Amino acid sequence: MSTADDRALKAEAEIGRINAFFPILPRLGNRWAASRPWEGRVLALNLHLTTLTGALIQELSLGGGTFLVSAANPATTDPGTVQFLRNQGIEVYTGGDMEDRHQQVLNHRPSMLVDVGFDLIHALLEKRPDLVPQITGAVEVTRSGITRLRQRKNLPFPMMNINDGRLKNAVENRHGVGEAFWQAVSRLTGMHLSGRRAAVVGYGPVGRGLAAYARAAGLNVEVVERDPVRRLFAHYDGFPTPSLSEALSRAHLLVTGTGARHVVTAADLGSARDGLVLANAGHGGDEIDVHGIQRAAIRVDQIAEHVVRYRLDSNARVTLLGNGHPLNIVLNSGSPEPVLLQFAVLGLALEYLATQSVAPGELLVPDAIEDAAAALALESLEPS
Ligand SMILES: NC(=O)c1ccc[n+]([C@@H]2O[C@H](COP(=O)([O-])OP(=O)(O)OC[C@H]3O[C@@H](n4cnc5c(N)ncnc54)[C@H](O)[C@@H]3O)[C@@H](O)[C@H]2O)c1
Repeated sequence: MSTADDRALKAEAEIGRINAFFPILPRLGNRWAASRPWEGRVLALNLHLTTLTGALIQELSLGGGTFLVSAANPATTDPGTVQFLRNQGIEVYTGGDMEDRHQQVLNHRPSMLVDVGFDLIHALLEKRPDLVPQITGAVEVTRSGITRLRQRKNLPFPMMNINDGRLKNAVENRHGVGEAFWQAVSRLTGMHLSGRRAAVVGYGPVGRGLAAYARAAGLNVEVVERDPVRRLFAHYDGFPTPSLSEALSRAHLLVTGTGARHVVTAADLGSARDGLVLANAGHGGDEIDVHGIQRAAIRVDQIAEHVVRYRLDSNARVTLLGNGHPLNIVLNSGSPEPVLLQFAVLGLALEYLATQSVAPGELLVPDAIEDAAAALALESLEPS
């Protein structure tokens, strides 16, 4: 059984490895150590506590100020990262219920906030309105947080939306998911992808990446897309665009990336070829109607962790990976670079809010911030 300090050392080593190959955050850390943009401020961060977040907070804390952290979700809290941050003198709240963690952070009277999902900002607005006058700025990282923000009128301080900029769609949704998903499929199944036939359902940024990385791995790829414009894009990118039932009748692998519910149901699988492997790379856990498939199955075999094979009425065997949850997230697969790039945008957003005068309300991440993050990424990727 490893001790908390052993786990912290492991997290620290992992952060060192990440920074060794894509040093975008240490470059920012050097800059913040010199300019100290949050000197004298208290910053509250509600984030998923992975080693990548540890890498971010390590660099942010070089810029002065006091940092307080709450865990956004127990399921995404790495104990090694928590201990690593505590060893750096940062207060990290992981216990109690969510409400409780937020209140503990807010008791330190922060003046800047970072949130995933608008939970911390919501807690401040509802439970600690006395703190509102001292908030100089907040950053929201996720689409769900932006949606919650927009349901609310008259936000009394500036909140930067870093989800809807140019970089996230182009880098994380497209390249990040595309690369990570197929890596996860190989890891779980041991299948060599080359020469097999794959169907990608949905041709937004996520679907485009899935299709491109599948082709690069040697798969024969088809795209199922309901929007005619995007179907045309898929055609000109060189992919056949059959109906779902046609694609199912010949695919070895089918992946959903649509954001829509029940895109593949038990009834659809009536036309599936025997041996189909099915997985999701899109939203939540319901793009594939897992419950419907479970109900319709005449036999269920757990092949391995995250790998369940169903025998259907038609006698076809269909193997579901990751129980229909986004597979790259279930396996935490793929390169950390897209998230690190987004964290660089986050840090630059905080720097902007700490140094500029900004009107209350939602503010889309300014082009200058994404330009700066892209330039830093290029310096890290292609050092001169
Ligand atoms: N796995 C991850 O790590 C990860 C990362 C980023 C985004 N996402 C999620 O992936 C999903 C897709 O993201 P996006 O940016 O490509 O979204 P998008 O909305 O731009 O594209 C989705 C596409 O799916 C198509 N579609 C919807 N229902 C369909 C159906 N029944 N059949 C065929 N096509 C259908 C739409 O027409 C659209 O073109 C979103 O839910 C997003 O939240 C996942």
